[in-house]
Amino acid sequence: MLQIGNIVISSRCLLAPLAGVSDLPFRLISREHGCEFAYTEMISGRSLVYDSRKTLQMLITSEKDTPLGLQLLGAEPEVLAEATVIAASVKNVRLIDFNAACPVSKVVGKGEGAALMKDPPLFSRILGAIVKNTALPVTVKLRAGWDDSSVNAPDLARRAMDAGVSSVTIHGRTRTQGYQGSVDYAVIRQAKEAISIPLIGSGDALSPALIKQMFDETGCDGVAIARGALGNPWIFHEADLFLREGILPERPSREEVQKVLLKHLEIQCFYFGETRAVVMFRKLFSWYVKSLPNIRKLRERAFRAISKQEMTDLISELTATWIH
Ligand SMILES: Cc1cc2nc3c(=O)[nH]c(=O)nc-3n(C[C@H](O)[C@H](O)[C@H](O)COP(=O)(O)O)c2cc1C
Repeated sequence: MLQIGNIVISSRCLLAPLAGVSDLPFRLISREHGCEFAYTEMISGRSLVYDSRKTLQMLITSEKDTPLGLQLLGAEPEVLAEATVIAASVKNVRLIDFNAACPVSKVVGKGEGAALMKDPPLFSRILGAIVKNTALPVTVKLRAGWDDSSVNAPDLARRAMDAGVSSVTIHGRTRTQGYQGSVDYAVIRQAKEAISIPLIGSGDALSPALIKQMFDETGCDGVAIARGALGNPWIFHEADLFLREGILPERPSREEVQKVLLKHLEIQCFYFGETRAVVMFRKLFSWYVKSLPNIRKLRERAFRAISKQEMTDLISELTATWIH
């Protein structure tokens, strides 16, 4: 069980925020496979306040997409305060998360994302402004620090708690590391020890065994699954079972992969319209099939598919004898 503010979920694994990925269809498929709590992709507070059409599209949600955490990105307390009020009014949103973790140059160049780890007073002011403007629980996502010489996640976790935040997520790599190198479990453990609110661990949660390792090494209360869920919604049930009973279920059969691909495509087309959905689906197809043998040609064809029928035909080929 995991409790964040007034949100109680039975699974201790969450779907991490994933820009360009954790949209409504992705969240719905994850939820069908045991994910109880999911985050939206990061959403710019500025775009939200100025209502860009694209921003509102990121906010599409549906009846089954709950409880949902909306992640805000930005560096201006006043704008984020306003964005919080809008975010909290979005259907199904039960929690506001703040991104102080994004390493992308375009983002940190504006003083946003992980750049805020270099400015603890501003970090605290932003969280204070968000907390003050909503009755929903507020959470924050950090990295271990900016670089090796400034690992300050435990200090910032404490600041976040003092600002009234309900849980802290830490990706155990520095901004400089990007996605390279190993995850620093020790810094996550230190942060856990520095706060009395739940801590969610993030980084290399790629398999049930690695997820268990995150819990064991850090004492964290929950784990955010990110790259491990790409083309692999089964990871949620698998991790839960492994954590509860030490059992590793069999990997999904080829027919199961095919079934879920078809459903994902269907939902994607329903929400985004066929043309856009199929283009977006190319990378999803590639993720779902990446561990299958003899798949290179099929993947290449998927990257050229332009219609739902074409994509459906490629999915049917997954059970063809030549890729067994
Ligand atoms: C494609 C992609 C998009 C991401 N987008 C976000 C985002 O919008 N907000 C965020 O806080 N983290 C984002 N992350 C970071 C993940 O949530 C997670 O912390 C990171 O991938 C480490 O976990 P992993 O090693 O298990 O993948 C993203 C990661 C990836 C791979």
